[in-house]
Amino acid sequence: MVASTSPGSSGEREGWSSRTAFILAAIGSAVGLGNLVRFPAEAGANGGGAFVLFYILCIVLIGLPVLLSETLIGRHGQAAAPESYRKMALESGASKQWEFVASLGVLSAFLVLSFYCVLGGWVLYYVGTFAADLVSSGVTGPAFAGSSFEQVEALFPAMISNGPVTVALNIGFLLITLYFVSRGVSGGIEKVAVYLMPIFFILLVAITVYGAFGGAMGETVSYLFTFEPAKLSADVMLAAIGQAFFSLSLGVAGMVTYGAYVSRETNLAKTSGIIVAADTSVALIAGLCIFPIVFAAGLAPNGGLGLMFQTLPHAFQDIPGGALIGLAFFVMVAFAALTSSVALMEVPSAWVIDRFKVSRLVATLLVTAGALVLGALSALSMGALSGWHPLGFIPLFEGQGMLDTLDTLTGKLTLPIGALLTSIFVGWIAEKRLIDSENGLEGGLHRLWLFLVRWLCPIALAAILIFGIFG
Ligand code: PFF
Repeated sequence: MVASTSPGSSGEREGWSSRTAFILAAIGSAVGLGNLVRFPAEAGANGGGAFVLFYILCIVLIGLPVLLSETLIGRHGQAAAPESYRKMALESGASKQWEFVASLGVLSAFLVLSFYCVLGGWVLYYVGTFAADLVSSGVTGPAFAGSSFEQVEALFPAMISNGPVTVALNIGFLLITLYFVSRGVSGGIEKVAVYLMPIFFILLVAITVYGAFGGAMGETVSYLFTFEPAKLSADVMLAAIGQAFFSLSLGVAGMVTYGAYVSRETNLAKTSGIIVAADTSVALIAGLCIFPIVFAAGLAPNGGLGLMFQTLPHAFQDIPGGALIGLAFFVMVAFAALTSSVALMEVPSAWVIDRFKVSRLVATLLVTAGALVLGALSALSMGALSGWHPLGFIPLFEGQGMLDTLDTLTGKLTLPIGALLTSIFVGWIAEKRLIDSENGLEGGLHRLWLFLVRWLCPIALAAILIFGIFG
């Protein structure tokens, strides 16, 4: 049911079958392991409240305006990201070199894809573990009956240091992503998003409400929402802005790519608002779901990427039917991750299709092959390659293995830089007429958005980048 088919550079270009389908797919792209794994990890590593509140500020004042900027560039261009930037630049009488912003985004998306699918593989491991447990615990039994909390917690370090397992799962997750992306926008990506995102959201809320009665909710709320200005260092700010972009899929040309499939009738400002609201609420709910267990179990909040994997199984240990509910939950996490990895693979794939005029299948196979090699290095970086710190000679990357290096490189550098350049492009370079006709804003809101894109976004981003990196 593809209603909007618009011409692209390489002939016919498919579109989303409806506005709702686009919103759900964009939310599907935004909501993922960034919300469930990276947000709690970053909040915990950066001291809680100061990070979280600055993060929310970044989402509203920088993330939302940049999201609108990206989708409008994509919708105007109706092509892969670099071509969309080039088109808007040329129509504005500016250099076509602005397409570099999108090329940087395409590269970032590829790098994120490579390590994102490693995390996706971890989720698959938990799906398998819960499935096996269901067989022994039964449908009505709690998860991991007879195992202590420590034993369940120990599953995570044992898994990430097991190279053959993590590499195999990484390959598995990449192949599932490949399957959907190779089928095209309406055939694959859209169907995953439309059916799964609503179910996932309901399940997450249900688990959080259940957990609110048993865990350390009071402590969690004061940890996540007490603002302590002294803790707000430049480093924390950079982490928060990076997380905001990662979570909203910005700075990687992802929303430019998805925007290219949106019909002219869609109000981009409204849809951007909906996407931001959905993404931010899932991140906050994930925090409210995970930290009560962290505190109740006496764990350290700075447990890193393992936080979700180590705490949530514990919740399922406590409840009747936990084995089944746990399995359902991790299956949903896998789907949430999939709707994001699909978006991540779509960005470089759309670029390869437009640039080299190859078929979708060939493009996705090429991208998958590249991500597989890089992903294997990340998968091994918690085990066999843990002593290898590829950029360890640079202070920002000191002591980091491949996975952390790519995470820092994208989250703290290329994503914020991509977003910075996009805000300059839309705020200062693109002709006003083109932007006005696309953004769906009027009056005071329009002026506010222009102010944010022209002034606040570039200045704040440049300052945070400079102080965060060199400060
Ligand atoms: N926003 C996704 C998440 O939070 O998990 C990650 C992501 C997806 C980033 C797609 C970038 C992207 F283009």
